Amino acid sequence: MITTTGLTKVYRSGGREVTALDGVDLHVREGEVYGVIGQSGAGKSTLIRCLNLLERPTSGTVTVAGQDLTALGGGGQRANAALRAARSHIGMVFQHFNLLSSRTVQDNVELPLEILKVPRRDRARKALELLDLVGLADKAKAYPGQLSGGQKQRVGIARALAGDPKVLLSDEATSALDPETTRSILTLLRDLNQQLGLTVVLITHEMDVVKTICDSAALMKGGRIVEQGTVAELLATPGSELARELFPVGGESLAEGRTVVDVTFHGDAATRPVISELARTYNVDVSILGAAMDTLGGKQVGRMRIELPGRFEENVVPIGFLREQGLQVDVVDGAADDAPTTTPLQKEGAQ
Ligand SMILES: Nc1ncnc2c1ncn2[C@@H]1O[C@H](COP(=O)(O)OP(=O)(O)OP(=O)(O)O)[C@@H](O)[C@H]1O
Ligand SMILES: [Mg+2]
Repeated sequence: MITTTGLTKVYRSGGREVTALDGVDLHVREGEVYGVIGQSGAGKSTLIRCLNLLERPTSGTVTVAGQDLTALGGGGQRANAALRAARSHIGMVFQHFNLLSSRTVQDNVELPLEILKVPRRDRARKALELLDLVGLADKAKAYPGQLSGGQKQRVGIARALAGDPKVLLSDEATSALDPETTRSILTLLRDLNQQLGLTVVLITHEMDVVKTICDSAALMKGGRIVEQGTVAELLATPGSELARELFPVGGESLAEGRTVVDVTFHGDAATRPVISELARTYNVDVSILGAAMDTLGGKQVGRMRIELPGRFEENVVPIGFLREQGLQVDVVDGAADDAPTTTPLQKEGAQ
């Protein structure tokens, strides 16, 4: 649905150059909720603004719904008609809502339709329909100043949907909201994704947001995407930073001469009693040092940090057993003099 290839953005100001995007290849599938996460300055906002060409990339391409936007005319206010038309199918939601305080809620939602020169009656009908969809049917005549933050963001979402977009872009739409309101806005985005088949790209600082609604995610650092994939793929990637942050397991071994491993469960393996099978089959005492389980997209996934008695060499067989059950196993601490790091095992596991 959305693909970027070699997307690069260099800002030039006062003789200085800032590379905000450095060759980004993004792949967002139709109908998914895709989260982009990363620290401040990583280039997240620049990326999302390049997706609808609010920001013109220095090089690279942006394709949305099969259309190469970068091939369409100039940028900014000189955007030509083709680009404007393509953009009307991409809705955008902002952190600070960007509502016009002098206009009623309904008139705010109608604004993009006015620009598209939709007749007044059709505009009103569409706006009321959308306000109903976001749960604000009774606020049509209110002014933004009379609304709570969560209600303002609902208006922002209704406005973003006015052009019947296929794609909704959201830049930190919930970071100005309290946790409960955040949850209700995320639920709304998920419902819209499912009801309208809307593809959603959202930027966030918060892992919880990714965990709550994203099918896929990307981690950005220094203008690059360093990891991306479905949540299940990320969990199955040895050493994935996103997986570790999504499911932090913590837990330190206090004893000497023991092997600590992180086990990642997803798919069918998550519902089988693998740990008790391990304990029974090999007659080992398994200690659980930490665990994080959750339901993602209706499937149980999670990680567990366990400790096995003995050094790594003594646990090769039990670890092999866990792998055979379809689990991802990363050795954290082998407790041997030259304890294997996770690297040789990852290589072995990848074969
Ligand atoms: N208009 C601009 N002119 C010059 N530099 C810019 C401009 N916009 C962004 N940058 C720089 O590009 C880099 C990426 O900025 P960007 O806003 O995309 O980061 P971000 O990941 O969205 O950060 P945050 O989480 O703080 O919103 C930063 O170093 C920033 O200073
Ligand atoms: Mg930003």
